Amino acid sequence: MRLRKMILADLDEVLLIEQDVHAHPWTRGNFTDALTSDNLCYMYEDEENIVGYAVLLPVVDEVELLNISIAAKHQRKGLGRKMLGELMKIALGMNLRRMLLEVRISNIPAFGLYNDAGFRKIGLRRDYYVADNGREDAIVMECLLGTQL
Ligand SMILES: CC(C)(COP(=O)(O)OP(=O)(O)OC[C@H]1O[C@@H](n2cnc3c(N)ncnc32)[C@H](O)[C@@H]1OP(=O)(O)O)[C@@H](O)C(=O)NCCC(=O)NCCS
Repeated sequence: MRLRKMILADLDEVLLIEQDVHAHPWTRGNFTDALTSDNLCYMYEDEENIVGYAVLLPVVDEVELLNISIAAKHQRKGLGRKMLGELMKIALGMNLRRMLLEVRISNIPAFGLYNDAGFRKIGLRRDYYVADNGREDAIVMECLLGTQL
């Protein structure tokens, strides 16, 4: 498995995965904006398959994890954990000292992954996300990079 920079030509495949694994997926425009701004956008793949991708936003000495997705057929094989570990190493190598994220309160798999990876809950944002029937709270989590590896 390896991480490489995402490019515009990846977006057809990224959107197929995104629309499959998220109830409220990012649009092509969201990814295009990420690719044309200061975001860090990565594909996770082996020789044959795109397994997942991630988008991060560095801000001074911190980084926000905006999107991390593993294709449905590759989930629950430890690949999300491995990709997140690689992303943390890259961030640390860029002198980014803290990783932050928001996660839907209903997203048990993601919450499990983040807990596993050394994140801890630091807050709650009420009604942060659009949900199927109204709004949904976000849990805010942080990981102090370098302390969990
Ligand atoms: C969240 C996500 C990236 C996890 O990736 P993954 O490769 O399936 O996760 P891993 O196999 O590395 O699992 C790591 C840990 O996460 C937790 N976890 C992952 N999937 C889980 C599930 N379906 N139910 C409960 N816990 C789960 C577990 O603690 C797991 O450790 P374990 O297998 O030893 O119990 C993946 O489920 C996904 O792409 N979901 C849809 C997109 C999404 O919600 N992204 C996060 C918000 S942007």
